[in-house]
Amino acid sequence: MPETRLIAADDQEMDEAIDAAVVLLAEGGIVALPTETVYGLAADAFNPEAVARVFEVKERPAFDPLIVHIASVTDLPAVAEVPDEIDQTVRQLISNFWPGPLTLLLPKTDAVSDLVTSGLPEVAVRQSGNLIFRSIGKKLGRPIAAPSANRFGRISPTSAGAVVKELDGRIPLVVDGGACSDGLESTIVRVEAGPKRPLIHILRAGPVTKDQLQKFGKVVVDKRRAIDRPETPGQLASHYAPRTPLLMFDKPEDFVPEEGKQYGLLSYKGDPKAGYVDRHDWARVECLSPGSGKLPEAAVRLFFTMRLLDEAGLDAIVAEPVSEKALGLAIMDRLRRAAAPRG
Ligand code: TXA
Ligand code: MG
Repeated sequence: MPETRLIAADDQEMDEAIDAAVVLLAEGGIVALPTETVYGLAADAFNPEAVARVFEVKERPAFDPLIVHIASVTDLPAVAEVPDEIDQTVRQLISNFWPGPLTLLLPKTDAVSDLVTSGLPEVAVRQSGNLIFRSIGKKLGRPIAAPSANRFGRISPTSAGAVVKELDGRIPLVVDGGACSDGLESTIVRVEAGPKRPLIHILRAGPVTKDQLQKFGKVVVDKRRAIDRPETPGQLASHYAPRTPLLMFDKPEDFVPEEGKQYGLLSYKGDPKAGYVDRHDWARVECLSPGSGKLPEAAVRLFFTMRLLDEAGLDAIVAEPVSEKALGLAIMDRLRRAAAPRG
């Protein structure tokens, strides 16, 4: 594979970037594209050979299915069926959260190959809020299958530079749309008819929060179960992991540094009151939301700061927990998986 080309999708090069991506996708190639959540490794969802390349380049096991992105809601029937008993709720979720970081699991149509869904009967589908991504989908005229543009199990890329670090030389093109505005992968839900209200199962916590979904049904989220017995195959215990071991503790006192080892701290606000900052002579400290402690800022910076610490040559990274409210649920989900023992 020749060098990976990077085109900035800014005012001057926007059309060039979009056209280059469309040409590559139309001929069965794969390209990295920005979305509002994380960068995706895109392929024509209706081209099985292109989809197979995505698995190969990511070193992703074939049992872990891909999300299909549609450019417009009118493209939904081509990829998914909406069962009558959940139709109303699905419509409400779509009109409230699309385009945006919400992925729906729905029965797939025959047009979606088993390769995309890893043989599962449902397809994960969303409409990205990123305009560059959507323009490319529109011009291509086909749905786009795209997992996060990292090697399997590693930290998701939230900038074009991070994609290059993950996949340089393995893909022909990265469209640089700047930093991702949400910074965490989409919330994945399955809707089910319930006895009183519809049930909305959160299978992966993300930017669309439990509180936001509660208006539309009874929200069910079981973190333990999601980690131990993944219902979405990609929700494996160890995921989003830096190469450097990442440690989390129930209480700050539980951290006992080993002699001669270099530790870095991933702090929430950098506040000593949390019990970590002053506990040790850290080789390096990064903060998710310096000073103010805002969860949206922490979400945007999570994978970026994890990457910085991973590149700092440390023996281990200690991560402070954040409150599991709102976006904190998704942040803690990613941190726990990053800290999970690797199999
Ligand atoms: O924000 C996002 O969702 C990003 C951007 C690029 O759209 N994509 C992303 O894809 O995070 P990926 O492949 O890294 O994670 C997709 C998750 C995996 O855990 C996968 O197992 C699950 O979605 N998934 C995909 N299709 C599924 C299906 N048919 N049934 C169950 N789980 C599915
Ligand atoms: Mg991923």
